[in-house]
Amino acid sequence: MNFIDTPTPLHVENVVKTYQQGTAKINALDGVSLSVEPGEFVAVMGASGSGKSTLLHAMAGLIDVDEGRVMIAGQDLAQLADGPLTRFRRDNLGIVFQAYNLIPSLSAEDNIRLPVPSSRKKKIDVTIDGLLQRLGMTARRHHKPGALSGGEQQRIAIARALVCDPAILLADEPTGSLDSVSGTQICELLRGLADDQGRSIVMVTHEPHVAMWADRICVLKDGTNQAEIKTDGCRDPQTVAQQYQQALGAEAVA
Ligand SMILES: Nc1ncnc2c1ncn2[C@@H]1O[C@H](COP(=O)(O)OP(=O)(O)OP(=O)(O)O)[C@@H](O)[C@H]1O
Ligand SMILES: [Mg+2]
Repeated sequence: MNFIDTPTPLHVENVVKTYQQGTAKINALDGVSLSVEPGEFVAVMGASGSGKSTLLHAMAGLIDVDEGRVMIAGQDLAQLADGPLTRFRRDNLGIVFQAYNLIPSLSAEDNIRLPVPSSRKKKIDVTIDGLLQRLGMTARRHHKPGALSGGEQQRIAIARALVCDPAILLADEPTGSLDSVSGTQICELLRGLADDQGRSIVMVTHEPHVAMWADRICVLKDGTNQAEIKTDGCRDPQTVAQQYQQALGAEAVA
């Protein structure tokens, strides 16, 4: 593969997002920057209210930013009108949330099929078979979400995010509702999507034992880049927890 002329999949530059609440201004993001390369897995950590979800929503083009730029595959999201932005998002980004957001009346397989545009529906069966296999969900494909465990529902949500083959996967606390075994399975799955398929992954989490699966950890504080931790493949939650506490500074830990 030739990457020489390929733009960085995800490039966020000095992004500012302010919310007005009554008379108060909230600087949810106050000049955040982050770039993610192909096959890179980045975790975003920070205290509650530090701007993690706002950053993810800005990366997904789900909110407009006040200043700075969000570039996906070299495209500035602010330059796209609503319709083109929706199509661009579908083709370039997969998004996964803590609440799986599956449609209860549809089977697992039909939930995965949902984002596929009608022009591609006929050719998608092979892709769906492959996804179900990779996620270990082939035997559960006809089950409705209510008959699946939390971990299984999240795997279906990830398959739905991947069905249009995006280069980038954005996940906001994807293990937040799961027990530790299911959470670890999801982390291993995300790690494999970066390692085996070269996808770029950004995952928001509070948990050091989840963040440790990433290549590096972007620590936010009060809507700014507070620190960056390189995990260097260290899968030790205590080391990551310690580095995270140090990055935040003792006064912010409580
Ligand atoms: N739509 C909104 N209107 C007003 N304020 C908002 C809105 N969305 C976020 N905020 C505020 O922006 C700040 C950052 O919120 P954000 O949801 O990004 O935090 P977070 O780091 O994801 O927190 P958590 O860990 O609790 O999910 C918070 O102070 C929040 O109250
Ligand atoms: Mg959040």
